[in-house]
Amino acid sequence: MATACAQTPAATSAAKPNVVIVATGGTIAGAGATSANSATYQAAKVPVDKLIAGIPELSNVANVRGEQAFQIASESFTNEKLLQLGKRVSALVKDPGVDGVVITHGTDTLEETSFFLNLVIRTEKPIVLVGSMRPGTAMSADGMLNLYNAVVLAGTPSARGKGVLVAMNDDILTGRDAAKRINIKTSAFASAWGPLGMVVENQAYWFRAPVKRHTTQSEFDIDTLQSLPEVHIVYGYGNMAPTLYDAAVKAGAKAVIHAGTGNGSVPDYAVETLRRVRSSGIHVIRASRIADGFVIRNSEQPDDKYDWVVAHDLNPQKAKILAALALGKTNSTAELQRIFWEY
Ligand code: DGL
Repeated sequence: MATACAQTPAATSAAKPNVVIVATGGTIAGAGATSANSATYQAAKVPVDKLIAGIPELSNVANVRGEQAFQIASESFTNEKLLQLGKRVSALVKDPGVDGVVITHGTDTLEETSFFLNLVIRTEKPIVLVGSMRPGTAMSADGMLNLYNAVVLAGTPSARGKGVLVAMNDDILTGRDAAKRINIKTSAFASAWGPLGMVVENQAYWFRAPVKRHTTQSEFDIDTLQSLPEVHIVYGYGNMAPTLYDAAVKAGAKAVIHAGTGNGSVPDYAVETLRRVRSSGIHVIRASRIADGFVIRNSEQPDDKYDWVVAHDLNPQKAKILAALALGKTNSTAELQRIFWEY
């Protein structure tokens, strides 16, 4: 009769891919007081080596080692931390001994980091972001299987060349499209355009591939980036205060993302303020507060006349990331709009 396979980590094997887990914190590293605390807990408590030790099955699918980049809740990410993480990941994927990288991350801003890395890391190797909606101390915690699937994906040759990926709740999402759409369910993440596929029992199943520029096809490169221009977002709503745009400019914004109602609409009482912002040399980018769909240029607003940019299907927080990178290369409205069509 076959004996149960040993759970002790197998020795490093050349047959298995080498995957590095770069930990940044979040709920996947969280801890609650009791197993009933699925939503009340402290994020960013468990170190990466303990996360790895908690899933001995990882050694069956990859040679895994961990690095602790940060130990923070992801709402506390800054441009400086994005750049620091990006440079570390770029160095790791240049190492011929590394086949893939997993980044454990809080879910709140995971989509911003995944999009940023998708735009700036020049590699074909899989880079997979993963988080969890429940801490590991909770009943039916989702972090273990999410992390296991992320490591499987990072070591899967067919994941090469597909850009940065997000592995959550068995789904494979593009780092570009992934968004946190529900704040309190394990099925929190989705893409308006659907997942690329799924990871099920050590196997990646693909059903489509990304069409927007990413990684090796990108004109952006983390290795040449030293800073990111400030870009801020103003949310649109009934009876909004146009002075919020002035506050964004006062905070140093080189572009203001208008997170508008519907098709990125601008209230009639706010148009003059936004036109003044633009005439002062600050770019105006119309995005939508609506989760799905995309903003149409020159529809309700004469973007050509006002010299504004539209964010296409990018949500405001992703438009912020792309605008910051684009402004590091150009101040031309036409060039900015090209970049928003292509990435
Ligand atoms: N504070 C949130 C964060 O670190 C917790 C949410 C999570 O990681 O799922 O993003």
